Amino acid sequence: MEQYTFSVLKQERLGETLALIHTVFLEYEAPDYSDEGIQEFMRFIEINAIKKMLAENVMRIWTCEIDGRIIGALGARRDHINLLFVNGKYHRKGIARQLLNMMIEYFSPIAVTVNSSPYAVEAYRRLGFVDTDTEQIVNGLRFIPMKRRTKGQDKRGAGQKGTYLVSESLLPFAPILNHPFAEPCHTGNLTNRYPFAP
Ligand SMILES: CC(C)(COP(=O)(O)OP(=O)(O)OC[C@H]1O[C@@H](n2cnc3c(N)ncnc32)[C@H](O)[C@@H]1OP(=O)(O)O)[C@@H](O)C(=O)NCCC(=O)NCCS
Repeated sequence: MEQYTFSVLKQERLGETLALIHTVFLEYEAPDYSDEGIQEFMRFIEINAIKKMLAENVMRIWTCEIDGRIIGALGARRDHINLLFVNGKYHRKGIARQLLNMMIEYFSPIAVTVNSSPYAVEAYRRLGFVDTDTEQIVNGLRFIPMKRRTKGQDKRGAGQKGTYLVSESLLPFAPILNHPFAEPCHTGNLTNRYPFAP
């Protein structure tokens, strides 16, 4: 049985994690985006930009690995998911569900929001999210604003389909409190606001 290890991102694994995100994005999301949208996303995942968000506690990232390789990652700030990517070979094994569980466990938000890629909408619906608006296009990125109320953790994680280890305390990130970008960007005027970022 495959063993998944879920943990908070270790700083030295950031490059590998961004490489995974880059590869999965090109395969599953880029076909739905214009060149402008692709460039916008690439700017968002630029390593120094992400390092800054991690250092300032604007984002927290959880990863899933198997055999020492990172195969899934979820990035969020408090109640908003801004990155969720799983290696295609491991789709539908409960990895996204477990990463989401960890985010909810950590932040204990009343609700979680996401600006879903067109590809991921069905998966988010299966994860309990509902559409909160019609599809938007901002800076070439297409996305559907979605939201899920939280009633504690969803017990169906990757553990259902493999075994997994969870390590929550690898990096001493402080919770994000009273951050100026705490509100989700799924309503109101989206112009000039990056859809996946705070
Ligand atoms: C969206 C994504 C993260 C889901 O990851 P995953 O690990 O395969 O998701 P899970 O296995 O935890 O599945 C969660 C639920 O969604 C369902 N699901 C997953 N992918 C699905 C798909 N493509 N279509 C329909 N349902 C899907 C699963 O069956 C499961 O529901 P169930 O438990 O009721 O059977 C993954 O497909 C991905 O990386 N996509 C490309 C990148 C992307 O679009 N990311 C979103 C950015 S906002």
